[in-house]
Amino acid sequence: MSSPSTKPVMLSGIKPTGEIHLGNYFGAMRQLVELAKSGKYQSFIMVADYHALNFIQNAKEMRELSLDLAAAYMAVGLTPQSGSGEDRVVLFKQSDVPAHTELTWIFDTLTTMPYLMRAHAFKDAEAKNHEISVGTFNYPMLMSADILLYDTQLVPVGQDQKQHIEYARDTAEKFNRVFGQEVFTLPKEHIMEEVAIVPGIDGQKMSKSYGNTIPLFASREVITERVMSIVTDSSGERPENVYAIHKLIKSEAELAPIYEEHRGKYKALKEALVEDLDAFIAPLRTTYIELKDSPEKITAALERGAEQAREVTSKKMAEVKKAIGVA
Ligand code: ADP
Ligand code: TRP
Repeated sequence: MSSPSTKPVMLSGIKPTGEIHLGNYFGAMRQLVELAKSGKYQSFIMVADYHALNFIQNAKEMRELSLDLAAAYMAVGLTPQSGSGEDRVVLFKQSDVPAHTELTWIFDTLTTMPYLMRAHAFKDAEAKNHEISVGTFNYPMLMSADILLYDTQLVPVGQDQKQHIEYARDTAEKFNRVFGQEVFTLPKEHIMEEVAIVPGIDGQKMSKSYGNTIPLFASREVITERVMSIVTDSSGERPENVYAIHKLIKSEAELAPIYEEHRGKYKALKEALVEDLDAFIAPLRTTYIELKDSPEKITAALERGAEQAREVTSKKMAEVKKAIGVA
């Protein structure tokens, strides 16, 4: 890897809030991994456990989900810093880097309530009459700190996160203006193209909240059980929910003869999907299981990542503290 300062910084974060499924992989992870592997960036990938704390308030669950997410990222091809080559990334846990919450406080003093009240997530919660925690209200400031601490230029996220990047940019501008110094770099979002929404086994959007997922590291038994329960209706030419998932792993040209041969035979088409999914998932599953069997490998990677992240952020925090006059 060339000297860290020569490449633009890319950073993204994922909340450890549930079992990773095919929708997550094809909708977000795959593109993130491709960008990281391009070798064009210095990449920071973060397990956003303090963001997840707004949803997961159980120690055992938090520990497991955070470890699972890190293992998932390693299994799908992110190479933490110990690896060699252009594609290695700094993979770390947000809670291991205290600067994130420290900078959040500083941003809190610059940010107004009305400004945070314009956040979509806040407005949605209000519209539903949900009682909203201060952590949820303040979510955009923690996310701004995540991004700005690393002089991040590029933030690959889904469309739903666009507003959060605007918050980070505005916050950087405000800080620089108020304290009269260019301490923070203004980040840009990279909106990852929506792969057509991946449907779940019931035809709705695949989501952990709907219990309709196919887990990314599913065993053959689970794949079979889930695929066989994909809801099909017999009105069309082909079972669309089966086809939509099949299309993620095979081209339309490859699928045409299969769907022609088994026209109207939904069971045979589902069996073909089980075969193809299992072939696609098997190598990922093997790596994932190996990692999960040696959790010390995951924690060691996260610890190394946290050290790297702390090195970067302590320099930035020294600059920040000088700029605001506490150091
Ligand atoms: P869930 O809906 O299961 O709670 P998340 O909201 O945690 O999933 O998803 C994380 C990211 O994964 C989203 O930002 C989105 O980009 C992607 N994603 C999730 N489900 C799908 C889906 N069914 N189709 C396409 N992308 C998805
Ligand atoms: N809020 C993001 C999400 O829900 C996760 C996240 C936390 C993040 N910190 C980040 C994404 C920093 C990009 C950069 O998906």
